Amino acid sequence: MLLTSSQISVAISSTVVTIFTFLLFLSGYVLQQQTVRSIQAVIHPKILPPAPTINPVFAKHFGRPPGHGFYEKYLASNRPKGGWAKVAYVQLVRQHIEVCGTITAFAQLEKEESMAQRIIMYPREWDAQPQDGAKLAPHVETSRRLLREAAKHYKVMLQPIEPNVQRTRSKITPEELYPLTNLLALHYYNRVLYLKPAGLILDPTPLDLLFTLPMDSPILGLSAPTSTSEHPPPSILLLQPSKSTYKELSSLLPEGAYPDTEILNLIHVESAPREKEFHTRLLAETSALDAENVAEFNATEFLEMTGYVHIEDPGVEGPEFDVPRPDFVRAMPSGKQARKAWESVYERYRDARRDVCALDLAPVDRPVDEGGGTGMAEELK
Ligand SMILES: *[C@@H]1O[C@H](CO)[C@@H](O)[C@H](O)[C@H]1NC(C)=O
Repeated sequence: MLLTSSQISVAISSTVVTIFTFLLFLSGYVLQQQTVRSIQAVIHPKILPPAPTINPVFAKHFGRPPGHGFYEKYLASNRPKGGWAKVAYVQLVRQHIEVCGTITAFAQLEKEESMAQRIIMYPREWDAQPQDGAKLAPHVETSRRLLREAAKHYKVMLQPIEPNVQRTRSKITPEELYPLTNLLALHYYNRVLYLKPAGLILDPTPLDLLFTLPMDSPILGLSAPTSTSEHPPPSILLLQPSKSTYKELSSLLPEGAYPDTEILNLIHVESAPREKEFHTRLLAETSALDAENVAEFNATEFLEMTGYVHIEDPGVEGPEFDVPRPDFVRAMPSGKQARKAWESVYERYRDARRDVCALDLAPVDRPVDEGGGTGMAEELK
């Protein structure tokens, strides 16, 4: 069958119309799904897969800063809803080894004059006096000293907490005893920000910005953007504490929580915004530095332009530990600049541990042969 040219142009234009109608439907559908998902996050959080998406609000604010000073200018004229007295950085320490890292983070916030409040939650049992005139264990004594110093020098409010469950079972994890749902009990605050340990705050300004942006779900998890489609678990949690959310989440949660997968199914996870052009990052992972584009990556810029670096690498117990050199070297990224950034992060962490807490790196405790020890480092100092 032969078509005249006008028939062909009618056919083409109707195809174009069909395509555009479909695209219009698709964009509407995507928008609708986003709204539906935030509603579901509140009503039926269980069915929410932790699929990272880009939040348009965050993307807008982080996506087009005209240079680094943008954040400071923005913060000069934008306050969190309810003011800076109603927002807080909050850390929940469960083990003695985590205390120093938390204190150094707050020391950095004080140094950089962050205006948000600061809270440390810690197990109340650390306050207990030893029975029968026995001496305090040295690591408990150190934790107490550090917490006192944080209150005195870095304006940190100390909040002792009770365990969530009874220690009836023999194998109970610190996460089960002190789950992150405790953060939601801080009803006085409009918004709290939690940084997954261990890590290093390089620049609190972009973190402060997170207190001022609109948020449409009660809990938001931000994970570092990576070059692959696999997103790491969130290293920043933003929470809007409220009695109802606390009750709802507590009833849904099994005894254990974060970093167990359950709570990740409950929260809305997003990829932290990153602006390539200005090299600004809110959040980075040491383990993702190896995947950086070698030609583009610049260690100096990375260290200047990143908000928070979460430190966790396979084969390395943590930045608090004196890991055998060969294991340390094996974990390093291969690119020259990436390696420089990676080493600097570990080094700064170590320096802060020494300068702020007066602590050396903790020795690693690994099983010497099969069957001996747990391989987990003990709570030291
Ligand atoms: C990295 O960036 C800094 C500052 O922008 C610049 O001075 C330095 O030359 C850069 N280094 C490399 C290796 O490109």
